[in-house]
Amino acid sequence: MEKLIIEGGCPLEGEVRITGAKNAVLGLIPAAILCGCVNTIDNVPNIKDVHKIVGILEKLGASILQKDDVLTIDTRNSISYDCSPYQDETGKMRASYYLLGALLGRYHKAIVPLPGGCNIGDRPIDQHIKGFKALGAKVVIEHGQVKMEAEHLVGANIYLDVVSVGATINIMLAAVLAEGTTVIENVAKEPHIVDVANFLNLMGANVKGAGTDTIRIRGVDHLHGCSYSVVPDQITTGTYMMAAAATGGNVLLHNVIPRHMEALSAKLREMGATVVEEAGGLRVIGNGHLKGVAVKTLPYPGFPTDLQQPMAVLMTIAEGNSVIIESIFENRFKYAEELRKMGANIVVNGRIANITGVPGLSATHIAATDLRAGAAMVIAGLVADGETTISNVHYIDRGYENLEENIRSLGGKIRRIQTAD
Ligand code: EPZ
Repeated sequence: MEKLIIEGGCPLEGEVRITGAKNAVLGLIPAAILCGCVNTIDNVPNIKDVHKIVGILEKLGASILQKDDVLTIDTRNSISYDCSPYQDETGKMRASYYLLGALLGRYHKAIVPLPGGCNIGDRPIDQHIKGFKALGAKVVIEHGQVKMEAEHLVGANIYLDVVSVGATINIMLAAVLAEGTTVIENVAKEPHIVDVANFLNLMGANVKGAGTDTIRIRGVDHLHGCSYSVVPDQITTGTYMMAAAATGGNVLLHNVIPRHMEALSAKLREMGATVVEEAGGLRVIGNGHLKGVAVKTLPYPGFPTDLQQPMAVLMTIAEGNSVIIESIFENRFKYAEELRKMGANIVVNGRIANITGVPGLSATHIAATDLRAGAAMVIAGLVADGETTISNVHYIDRGYENLEENIRSLGGKIRRIQTAD
């Protein structure tokens, strides 16, 4: 097993370049199935989830070349619409659900195992299926597989019962080659939604309204290849911003879109950190003294649920009381127990966490309980007094490229070890 060892107490100082967005590229790669052509995507993060989805597409028949952060995806060969032989791979990630929309969109058929992903709640896909059925698909779920087929895919009006990132993207993928117009209302507006819509339009689709509450898609007959660059990762950006603020550091983040960070930037300023736009990026300065705040997670442009866990770490050492209301997922506070091991005062009651600031965290052995909690544990180790050991680092490798190298380049003391257990 691999573990991270972190010596706390070093303010992070210097510059870091943010990579492409995991939750955008995991939609872009399956979307390339739709065109039956060659697409080039750059600014692709070097993370485990990208390797997994690339491996699945190759097993389905795509030819994919990776050179540095550039993927060349050739889907001119026929791609199998049956992913059931790859249950092991698809079951280890949430984003494998995008294969449903892409394969249905191109072949009017799809067999995809039910998705996996971080254990942060129930995470149904009923809204995805609602959209596929509205477009004309017959859907059966049996033996852990979602099986779909459609004589024709015809545009429809779809109102999402809940704002869902995955359902928004998946229905877009299924609708771009359908006959007629599809209107999807109450959609998610995250930057990665806009990124996938931009990619589809560059391939010749007709998608309007991404980033607003309503997306309108006019079906086209075919798509063509294109070259595309992935949007910077909003969540990775936020993670480094909070690491700088938590350690009382001074970090300039490059390749970011400040507008995407406004909910977090405002909250960090409220806590007493400095967040300013500089050189096309964002500079975050921690003054070594944070004030407690209240956070409610919401769909974009609200405070991202994926930044809730790192934010909780800042709150544990902030002055006074803080509260987190997690409105998106019903079980996203599992990490609280790990922080309590470090001396945090955090009381969780359902979707609400009440945190009372303590003078500092004390280093010990902790575990990552999911991807974003793993990043939060790293920040906890960076501020703790002593040497913290973090296990289950495989979660972190799913979504953060070069985390240790970046933290070391910023002056943090972090290393990875192999252990027998
Ligand atoms: C995506 O998950 C992200 N994952 C998550 O990031 C992120 O936390 C989440 O969006 C919210 O921003 C990927 O993009 C791969 P949702 P997704 O559908 O699509 C309910 C990370 O760490 N819902 O927006 O699963 C659902 O249960 C991961 O990068 C339904 O009820 O999220 C949740 O309560 C963690 N029915 C809420 O909607 C559905 O059909 C939002 O889920 C779909 C969702």
